[in-house]
Amino acid sequence: MLNYTTLTFNNGVTIPQFGLGVFRSEVGEETAQAVQWALEAGYRHIDTAMAYRNEQDVAEGIRRSGVAREEIFITTKCATGDIEKRQALDCFNRSLDNLKTDYVDLYLLHWPVPNYEEAYEVITRLYEEKKIRAIGVSNFQVHHLQNLERLGYLTPAANQIELHPAFQNREVKEYCGEKGIIVEAWSPLGGKDFLLLDHPVLNAIGKKYGKSAAQVIIRWHLQIGNVVIPKSVHQNRIIQNSEVFDFELADEDMAAIRALDTNKRAYWDPERFGTR
Ligand SMILES: NC(=O)c1ccc[n+]([C@@H]2O[C@H](COP(=O)([O-])OP(=O)(O)OC[C@H]3O[C@@H](n4cnc5c(N)ncnc54)[C@H](OP(=O)(O)O)[C@@H]3O)[C@@H](O)[C@H]2O)c1
Repeated sequence: MLNYTTLTFNNGVTIPQFGLGVFRSEVGEETAQAVQWALEAGYRHIDTAMAYRNEQDVAEGIRRSGVAREEIFITTKCATGDIEKRQALDCFNRSLDNLKTDYVDLYLLHWPVPNYEEAYEVITRLYEEKKIRAIGVSNFQVHHLQNLERLGYLTPAANQIELHPAFQNREVKEYCGEKGIIVEAWSPLGGKDFLLLDHPVLNAIGKKYGKSAAQVIIRWHLQIGNVVIPKSVHQNRIIQNSEVFDFELADEDMAAIRALDTNKRAYWDPERFGTR
């Protein structure tokens, strides 16, 4: 078992700080195999979404691993189309069926699309009914979070946002810090199209510790308090990405990575995603 660190949400529930993401893991065997390998390597946290269409394969990977459901932290997300069409409840129930479980550890609204307020009320009820252990949001900007607060809604436990060395999303990260909302970094390595693994600074730092650039980036996320969910469908990378609990980046290396921020997103802008 890995020496996992955990973070504690504002409702007292704990989340393993490190997990496996399965966005763009193909439907079917690829995802089931990746999840099985990850659980065998000691991962206890899987991040999926209705939109990834692979929740059933996550369930299959869990089944094959033999690891008990209650030992695994599962995050899934309400799809944007379902939020817009006011079908959040139906979406959640489909996720339970797909995942072959009767509860979700963390349930997020995937994007702040129209009717997200109503969807948030729906998932708050599911939380109160104990079908979800913690509720949160994804891709919410500061003004979306302020809107939830103005409406008197429960403070989200987490906000899952694009965040990697080249886009450190500091405004949202700092605001979440002030409000006690845990930040989960998506595309933590820069994602499929903007992988940062050839970056000379990250490789030079890696050399000092005998670690890869991917491990340096994951370690940086852990040290700044992010939940980090790198995706891979290769067993050697799945294992490598988890070997980040046996070293600590020095302040000067943390500062060097902080200096890589371009403040430019690599992916979708929440202000323009959907129609809001
Ligand atoms: N909430 C949202 O809107 C949102 C959006 C995007 C992502 N996410 C979540 O965040 C997770 C991670 O983000 P992501 O998948 O976009 O990007 P990522 O984890 O930053 O990068 C994944 C890419 O890195 C490669 N990779 C992983 N480990 C590697 C290693 N050690 N060496 C070399 N290459 C490596 C993977 O290739 P292989 O698979 O071929 O190994 C894949 O191409 C997603 O899976 C998903 O769960 C959420």
